[in-house]
Amino acid sequence: MFSVLKKIRLPQPLEWRGDKVRLLDQTLLPLEEVYLDITDYREMATAIKELKVRGAPAIGVAGAYGMALGGLQIKARSKASFLEKLHAAAQTLAGTRPTARNLFWAIERMEKAARNCGRVAEIKQALIAEAVKIHETEVDNSMKMSRKGARLLKSGCRVLTHCNTGPLAAPGYGTALGVVIYAHRQGKKVHVYADETRPLLQGARLTTWECQKAGIPVTLITDNMAGWLMKRGEIDCVIVGADRIAANGDTANKIGTYSVAVLAKEHNIPFYVVAPTSTIDLSMKTGDEIPIEQRKPEEVTHIGGIRFAASNVAVVNPAFDVTPARYITAIVTERGIIRKSFEDGNLKFPIRIRQ
Ligand code: MRU
Repeated sequence: MFSVLKKIRLPQPLEWRGDKVRLLDQTLLPLEEVYLDITDYREMATAIKELKVRGAPAIGVAGAYGMALGGLQIKARSKASFLEKLHAAAQTLAGTRPTARNLFWAIERMEKAARNCGRVAEIKQALIAEAVKIHETEVDNSMKMSRKGARLLKSGCRVLTHCNTGPLAAPGYGTALGVVIYAHRQGKKVHVYADETRPLLQGARLTTWECQKAGIPVTLITDNMAGWLMKRGEIDCVIVGADRIAANGDTANKIGTYSVAVLAKEHNIPFYVVAPTSTIDLSMKTGDEIPIEQRKPEEVTHIGGIRFAASNVAVVNPAFDVTPARYITAIVTERGIIRKSFEDGNLKFPIRIRQ
């Protein structure tokens, strides 16, 4: 399975191993490469919550495998009882991270696959097959998005990224960083500026590591340096991923993305979003409807378990923000590139999205 992954030689976040999931613990990277074997859907829910596996498409695949593990754990005589127990597992997994659409997309697909089975005996295998299919689909989507998006990058370009959007976040090549990796492999000269991405430093820890693995020149900056670099003419485009895209193109992504988008507009720099259609949520008309995950204060007051802020200080810690569609130059998906319409400045969705 996944012979294509062998060929692309990039670190992958997780792998199905017959009756368990082997998962690369992203909280320990880049200092330690530790793999965890997950056999219980509750362990998978904890791994998602604690960001051992993270990034919207990877969370979706992890959720699907969590459901497959849940299925293997169920003891039930009737289909109705099996589906009821599976739904309880679905709720546990869905309760981990509210913003990434991919998680809910994957869980809904898994429950549908179970419902479509005739007998209890078939359901467990059908769940595994569906989870593997979701994984394969996301790998394929990643390759297609990367190829399509690479057309937007000229040789010599300096690309600003936010958070982590490479293969660790989206199996295959990744989303935004996948585009850069693809362009680099086409022989284009590209240079990545990676925002460190406070509070959990996915840019500093994961993006720099992935770029080094892929042989792409990368410069790490703190989040508050982006405006200065743009003003000096040192950034040619911004490429980010997405956790959920509303029907009007408003895009939820890692906290800080909105600030980068506003800066890009001020400096007339193209701002691209790269995401599979599994991230698009047509049930939400605008970004105002997207649920934003709030995380614990310690992520802001501490780094590496060490407190540096005054004790008991009030903290707010939204994990994501929403960038209005008017700041986005184009959204790259596996099905094509969605561009801004010149009439109303908003993004148009000319491609048909099956949800
Ligand atoms: O909290 P995280 O690390 O899961 O946030 C990840 C991001 O915000 C990514 O930019 C996003 O998932 C899109 S790219 C896979």
